Amino acid sequence: MAASETNSTALITGGAGFIGSHLADALLREGRRVRILDDLSTGSLENIPSGAEFVEGDVRSRETARDACAGVDCVFHLAAKVSIRQSIETFKVDADTNLMGTLSMLEAAGEAGVRRFVHASSMAVYADAADGALVGEDHPVEPLSPYGISKHAGERYVLMMGPKLGLEPVVLRLFNTYGTRQGYTPYVGVITIFVTNMLEGRPCTVFGDGNQRRDFVHVADVAEAFRLAGECDGAAGRVFNVGTGRGTTVNELAALIQSLLGGGTFTREPAYAVELRNSVADISRARDTLGYRPQGTLEECLPRVLDYLKSRRA
Ligand SMILES: NC(=O)c1ccc[n+]([C@@H]2O[C@H](COP(=O)([O-])OP(=O)(O)OC[C@H]3O[C@@H](n4cnc5c(N)ncnc54)[C@H](O)[C@@H]3O)[C@@H](O)[C@H]2O)c1
Repeated sequence: MAASETNSTALITGGAGFIGSHLADALLREGRRVRILDDLSTGSLENIPSGAEFVEGDVRSRETARDACAGVDCVFHLAAKVSIRQSIETFKVDADTNLMGTLSMLEAAGEAGVRRFVHASSMAVYADAADGALVGEDHPVEPLSPYGISKHAGERYVLMMGPKLGLEPVVLRLFNTYGTRQGYTPYVGVITIFVTNMLEGRPCTVFGDGNQRRDFVHVADVAEAFRLAGECDGAAGRVFNVGTGRGTTVNELAALIQSLLGGGTFTREPAYAVELRNSVADISRARDTLGYRPQGTLEECLPRVLDYLKSRRA
């Protein structure tokens, strides 16, 4: 039975964060009951929609994970340490959260008789791609960062152990997600970083020549991909890219934001070795199997994100 046909509870780990809170909104709009498990390490209470049940706690805690999974039909596991760059310095705590936290949730979901386990992975698992090439799910996996390693290890456990624990595993590899409620850190989310720096009169840093190509996907589309992955019968046991299929260079992005904000200065620093040069998704599998159809283009969505960041600053 599809999850939406029941009124059982969906659990979102990391649901007080950027993407998880948009997923909570999307599921509540569908009439689902939503429980959020989050330790508020980067998430915040104000992101949690009023209709959701909130459990404050750590996914690595066996008791917390077990209690949070009670009566749950589908776990959407998004809780993680998210920074690619910072993961060089924080590799141990990142691995602990991203891998051991995933195993903790997987085990608890299996014990609680959860039906489906949807795991948030990342384009950071992939090897670099040639200029202009789209990255399909069969593209070689060769993480350049500790973050990517932790995400890939989590995927492998979810796909291998999920069925043994009675779960239907689904892995979503998210590309560069942007939108409202993304927390500002100097490390994650180039759009949030550029816009916030420009609004506060600070220069923005472009790493390398700025011609690295990214697939910027709006958070509403990512939330919809999760919703579909929780329901679609054909998704079980599979990996899906979640992007748009369209590449934008960092230089193009900077020019677009500059034109929208009417200013902004840029400095350059050497490229980070942990970051991919070309990372643009082939989304045909998600389109054909999940019925995923990204709606938002950068040109349409960026002005709304700018308005949000301006209002947050005010
Ligand atoms: N933002 C992106 O562009 C992007 C790209 C690829 C993959 N992802 C993945 O999507 C997921 C969500 O990312 P996001 O951008 O919303 O980040 P986020 O930091 O806004 O959300 C992560 C949430 O997890 C919570 N959390 C962290 N450690 C926890 C723990 N031990 N126990 C309980 N909660 C914990 C945080 O408080 C936060 O609310 C992550 O798994 C991330 O790896 C994000």
